Amino acid sequence: MKIIKVEFDRSSPDLASCPQSLRPDFAFIGRSNVGKSSLINALTRKKDLAKVSDLPGKTKLLNFFVINNAWHLVDLPGYGFAKVTKDQRADFNESVADYLDNRENLLCVFVLIDSNLPPQRIDLQFLEWLGSTGTPFVLVFTKADKQSAVKAQANIELFKKEITPWWPDELPGIIVTSSKTGDGRNDILAVIAETLKS
Ligand code: GTP
Ligand code: MG
Repeated sequence: MKIIKVEFDRSSPDLASCPQSLRPDFAFIGRSNVGKSSLINALTRKKDLAKVSDLPGKTKLLNFFVINNAWHLVDLPGYGFAKVTKDQRADFNESVADYLDNRENLLCVFVLIDSNLPPQRIDLQFLEWLGSTGTPFVLVFTKADKQSAVKAQANIELFKKEITPWWPDELPGIIVTSSKTGDGRNDILAVIAETLKS
């Protein structure tokens, strides 16, 4: 799929204020600082569409972009940026949970995981919850340029091992990406194109 047109629609604080449109949503989520905004900019080839920051927790609202007049790209706030560090629970906001569980035209969630890290508890907790909602999702491993492919693959294998008990038959789809090199960009666009067709 070619991205021809990208328009910002709105930033919504909650599900009720999300666009009332029949266009399908494709949403991006992950731990704060995992590289969501960078990946969205790489996908759309717009440098400053989504704000990139070294400070985690930059994206606080549900940000809607209209792509090719046909679908919504949704940049969701990151989870796991709890100011209270005592408890490393998957602390993501209520509005995001409500959106993920109840948004009718949400076709697929891309869950971003840092390929540089071994499996993180907050990612696993989030996935277990997301799986329970029945929302379709794909795992996107980010920042693959930061280490060797072998190391990234080792982390991905560890991650797969952790989640296999939940999906014994069929593991979720996995895409390895780098916003620096553009790796994985076409794979994500292909998933979106396929989903739109079906
Ligand atoms: P929040 O909105 O704060 O939750 O963060 P985010 O998930 O949107 O992350 P963001 O795109 O702002 O990136 C966080 C940091 O990681 C920035 O310093 C980026 O430059 C860096 N980064 C993001 N993607 C990549 C990548 O593919 N490769 C490398 N090397 N760095 C990346
Ligand atoms: Mg962001």
